[in-house]
Amino acid sequence: MEFSIKQGSPEKLKSGCIVVGVFDGGKLSKAAQAIDKAAKHALSDLIARGDMNGKSASTLLLHKLPGVAADRVLLVGLGKISELNNKTSTEILGSTFKALNATPAKDAVLYIVDEGVGKDAAWVVRQAVFAAAEQIFRADGMKSKPSKAATLKHITFATLEKPDAALKTVLDRAAATAHGMDLAKTLGNLPGNICTPTYLAAKALALSKSHKGIKATVLEEKDMQKLGMGSFLSVTRGSEQPAKLITLEYYGAAKTQKPIVLVGKGITFDTGGISLKPGAEMDEMKYDMCGAASVLGTLQAVAEMGLKLNVVGVIPTCENMPSGKATKPGDIVTSMSGQTIEILNTDAEGRLILCDALTYSKKFNPDTVIDIATLTGACVIALGHVASGMFANEDKLAQELLAAGEQSHDRVWQLPLWEDYQPLLDSNFADMANIGGRAGGTITAACFLARFTKDYRWAHLDIAGTAWLSGKQKGSTGRPVPLLTQYLINRTAPK
Ligand code: BES
Ligand code: MN
Ligand code: ZN
Repeated sequence: MEFSIKQGSPEKLKSGCIVVGVFDGGKLSKAAQAIDKAAKHALSDLIARGDMNGKSASTLLLHKLPGVAADRVLLVGLGKISELNNKTSTEILGSTFKALNATPAKDAVLYIVDEGVGKDAAWVVRQAVFAAAEQIFRADGMKSKPSKAATLKHITFATLEKPDAALKTVLDRAAATAHGMDLAKTLGNLPGNICTPTYLAAKALALSKSHKGIKATVLEEKDMQKLGMGSFLSVTRGSEQPAKLITLEYYGAAKTQKPIVLVGKGITFDTGGISLKPGAEMDEMKYDMCGAASVLGTLQAVAEMGLKLNVVGVIPTCENMPSGKATKPGDIVTSMSGQTIEILNTDAEGRLILCDALTYSKKFNPDTVIDIATLTGACVIALGHVASGMFANEDKLAQELLAAGEQSHDRVWQLPLWEDYQPLLDSNFADMANIGGRAGGTITAACFLARFTKDYRWAHLDIAGTAWLSGKQKGSTGRPVPLLTQYLINRTAPK
């Protein structure tokens, strides 16, 4: 899919389809008025007849209007101006691309940027690109007869007034972000028998081949043994698949500039281990590597954008399986930091692989470290599928992530990291236990990680509720690639 921006008259632009808005009550947007005038009041007439009333996210496809150069005109309901918000805007964009995708048009010209459909022009462009990418994404690559690729290949955002020059950069970056989301979604959707730690490592190496700025390194279990990663290695003990520690390094700025390190949980399947999970919906635990997938997607996006920033991705990846060799409840392990951990529940494995990866991250002399993990079911209960849980040991970082979430519409909500929760992790036999009981499960998981991140600025994102959708729309969402990419873009902006 290609995207461009240009100024022009709606009736004159040749394309497979022109998209113009209609407000509540059938009030035509400026672009729609131009079409109406050229087509001898065809739009006013059909609105008078009641075929279109401008209801938010409704659509009406028209063919071969006289006086209009485009083959088709798609009318899109924008609803009441006063009721336009993040939710209605994304619904409008979603139904727009759904309707476009249902036509044989190869290209489309959209007059939505200067109609006030969203917060600001940049926001609309970003969300439109994500909506377009979502519609053409195919999740059925493993069917014997996958569906055909979408015919829609080119989207032009057209404006009546001269567009702001900065919008072109916003557009290119949104497209790179969408490509990163595609990668994250594809990896997330792959089943555990294909997307193994070895597969993820191969993907990282492939990414370093296809994207000049990225260098990938893969550490094996014997290397982790030498580094003293007793916590990470305890999780992989029950698995036949070898664990990997992947690093991706992107240097877009001087090497002396401290990097931002992204650490992604890469459990390619989480059975719970000896603390076995119940059977219902266990298949969804193939998504337990979505943190890792978001790191790969974000690094790809950053490299594609050529951001002038140093970014490192660290991905601890393994399976969590039961077996005769598997770690047992009550086992005590020594993490790379030297702190000992009593594993009271082998299903709280994400924190066990992350803690060693977080200690390892110190070697990059990081400016900031952000870990991303499908860490707790409790986070789904707390925040549902709308916001990711966010924790930070510095308030400025928390504010930056909140802001990037709003900009990218990939939002986070901050939870407390107060010391008061720490005693819940007390153990009689080791420095800490790996669980803190049912109460505040998302918070105690973050508190566990906080014990390994004291030496640098750090944030933790719990994406258990946002990385994938269940039920009929089951599939990986590509989140939080938009959030992370926007945060990194913002970090390059002059202060
Ligand atoms: N991968 C799961 C978290 C998860 C569960 C994400 C359901 C999305 C949906 C994680 O490894 C896990 O099993 N966490 C346990 C922790 C508990 C044992 C303290 C959980 O949330 O039940
Ligand atoms: Mn688990
Ligand atoms: Zn897990």
